[in-house]
Amino acid sequence: MIPDLQDAQRLDAEDPLAPFRDRFDLPPGVLYLDGNSLGALPSATPARLAEVMRQEWGQGLIRSWNTADWIGAPQRVGGKIARLIGAQADEVIVADSTSVNLFKLLSAGLTAAPGRRVILSETGNFPTDLYIAQGIAAMDPSVSVRALPRDEIIAAAGPETIVMLTHVHYKTGQRYDLRAVTQAVQARGGMILWDLSHSAGAVALELSAAGVDLAVGCGYKYLNGGPGAPAFLYVARRHQATLRSPLSGWMGHAAPFAFSDDYAPAPDLKRFLCGTPPILSLAALECGVDLFLEADMTAVTEKSQRLCDLFITWVEAHCAGHGLTLLTPRHPAARGSHVSFAHPDGYAVMQALIARGVIGDFRDPDAMRFGFTPLYLGYVDVWRAVQALKDILTSRAWDDPRYAARAAVT
Ligand SMILES: Cc1ncc(COP(=O)(O)O)c(C=O)c1O
Repeated sequence: MIPDLQDAQRLDAEDPLAPFRDRFDLPPGVLYLDGNSLGALPSATPARLAEVMRQEWGQGLIRSWNTADWIGAPQRVGGKIARLIGAQADEVIVADSTSVNLFKLLSAGLTAAPGRRVILSETGNFPTDLYIAQGIAAMDPSVSVRALPRDEIIAAAGPETIVMLTHVHYKTGQRYDLRAVTQAVQARGGMILWDLSHSAGAVALELSAAGVDLAVGCGYKYLNGGPGAPAFLYVARRHQATLRSPLSGWMGHAAPFAFSDDYAPAPDLKRFLCGTPPILSLAALECGVDLFLEADMTAVTEKSQRLCDLFITWVEAHCAGHGLTLLTPRHPAARGSHVSFAHPDGYAVMQALIARGVIGDFRDPDAMRFGFTPLYLGYVDVWRAVQALKDILTSRAWDDPRYAARAAVT
């Protein structure tokens, strides 16, 4: 039997994560299904930022590098993210953007083994991942980039490859088996670099247990760090002494305040810092991460799976016959925390939904993405979103010239 609104109400009443909803500032009347792209604002963040600005910056001034431990923020927040992704505290650091971290780790991985000259990735991976790889190959003609369909990647891995994959696909939501792929790549002599942008804070991860070599991830999606929040990077302990960042900035130096002329990398993960850390952005990210640390990642994963399951079930039951095709795997272990449906007029349908306060997004050529963030969405929210979608499709409300015009950011 297909669940109904009463079932959704019952699930909300029993939901152990429901109290987290009040820890976010969301506009009334909005159903926010885009936390996979830009997370919502934690209620604690504005006050914390005001404190960092007024007290730590305004009053403490430069002393706050020591007294407020600004200097330790990349490692401190990295250590907290480590707990969310199943890594050791000294294996994760916050720095730069995901794109820059991809550059640093790919370059470091290639340089560490002279025979490793191929960046192997997936066709249709998130563009920045492929573009960064192509940029590295453009600087060094001995490096090449190979992008293959996902079912051909393992067979192509070998000692000459660093395999760069996005764990949860940004468009389809498809999820790799992190442990199985890591071990298969390593068994063939390859090194693995995971992009966890759509995974951290969305699904339970065990990087250490899976033996992952390298990883990067976003701070502004499920971690709720705010627009353009700094990203994180992970380097397994066993690689930390040998990998060197190509961006040998002073913050990655073993003794930055010795001001010596010659670069010597820090002995630990700090070597992957480059310039002065963005303290205000780090403070906002820390608020998002702290909130997550209060939640149980197993409960988050289970709720994410249920929210996505219900969305798929209800869309297929209530919106049948309107040209929607599911792009996301049905099996919870094979997907992340967003669900995509293709529709030939997906852009306009999504704009009509947004006009009604149901905010998802769209990815060319036809994918409507709906993100399910267990900390601030409930089961009745999913029901309401599907009812709005049904209304729009049935009434053809999307067929309005206002909804056809493309915005700069989609
Ligand atoms: C898989 C993946 N990697 C990286 C990024 C973004 O990287 P950056 O924060 O450097 O823009 C995104 C953004 O959506 C993404 O989906």
